[in-house]
Amino acid sequence: MSISGDTQELNSYINNKIDIESVASFKGNEHIIKLNFSFDINLIREALDEIKEKSEFKTGPSGFHALAMTKRPGHSVDDDKDLVGRYYTRVDESYQEISKDELVDESSFSELVDVFKGTYFETIHQELSARYPIGRVRILEKSSFNCNSWHRDPEPRIHIPIVTNPGALFIGKQ
Ligand SMILES: [Fe+2]
Repeated sequence: MSISGDTQELNSYINNKIDIESVASFKGNEHIIKLNFSFDINLIREALDEIKEKSEFKTGPSGFHALAMTKRPGHSVDDDKDLVGRYYTRVDESYQEISKDELVDESSFSELVDVFKGTYFETIHQELSARYPIGRVRILEKSSFNCNSWHRDPEPRIHIPIVTNPGALFIGKQ
């Protein structure tokens, strides 16, 4: 240990700017895979603006806001569990992983919620459903200066960023 060595080391971290201008340089790994197709971000944002005029996000815990895009046939959005589903996380200093919320039969969420019908989101839902077994689809928002817990989901998830900010991170790890 030496003062000049420590100062030099810290300065090397300070001088290494980690902000990037765009997430376009995103590099996946075996746990986060960039799928080989994309959607029109401008059409997504336009459709979302229109939908937000007609619907309200439901607010859950931890700065988490959700708008259900799919529901179970014969059910209303309100009685479906659109906000939550099973996930695994560690909640205290024991670092023991526990399961939270109920296991959801994702495949039963096969119907588009009315407000999304005829919008670009319907196109996205059709394109995804033609390729993958798609269950619940939700529009999610996080409050500013807020992040999700470190957690594990029971099945693979597809994420389509709509509005993001420099420095916003999506971290995936085994
Ligand atoms: Fe998740």
